[in-house]
Amino acid sequence: MSDVEITEQDIARLVPAFYERVRQDPMLGPIFETAIDDWPHHLAKLQDFWSSVMLTTGRYKGQPMAVHVRYADKLTKEAFIGWLNLWKQTTDDILTPAAAARFQDKADRIAESLQLGIDFHHARRAE
Ligand code: HEM
Repeated sequence: MSDVEITEQDIARLVPAFYERVRQDPMLGPIFETAIDDWPHHLAKLQDFWSSVMLTTGRYKGQPMAVHVRYADKLTKEAFIGWLNLWKQTTDDILTPAAAARFQDKADRIAESLQLGIDFHHARRAE
């Protein structure tokens, strides 16, 4: 699968289209609208993130785990399922099937590790 070419242009189309849908989503929209007041900044950061993840450009310098743990109470299992469904739909709509599959695979793995971090946070708090 790694012979599928992915470009910065793919990421530049995908990220804004995805968050456009996120903002309209009844479950996810309110979580993001409360947290984000500078959308252009968020979109630029997420493009850097996906560029780092898919093209290993190292442009993103951040700590997604720490950021998401801050919202642990809102990031339920259902929220993750909704996020991943929307990601699947958007990547399928915008990219070739092979490229979409690579973005979906990465997102699945990252979501799993974020969820583990959030579960760990809840478990520690319950001690
Ligand atoms: C339930 C699913 C998710 C929700 C509700 C969610 C929500 C959010 C919110 C509200 C922020 C902004 C935080 C802030 O600026 O204060 C954020 C940032 C971010 N999210 Fe998510 N997220 C979800 C899943 C994911 C997944 C699966 C990924 C990666 C595949 C991801 C990647 C990121 C990144 C890279 C940032 C920027 C972190 C930084 O500031 O450096 N998120 N997310």
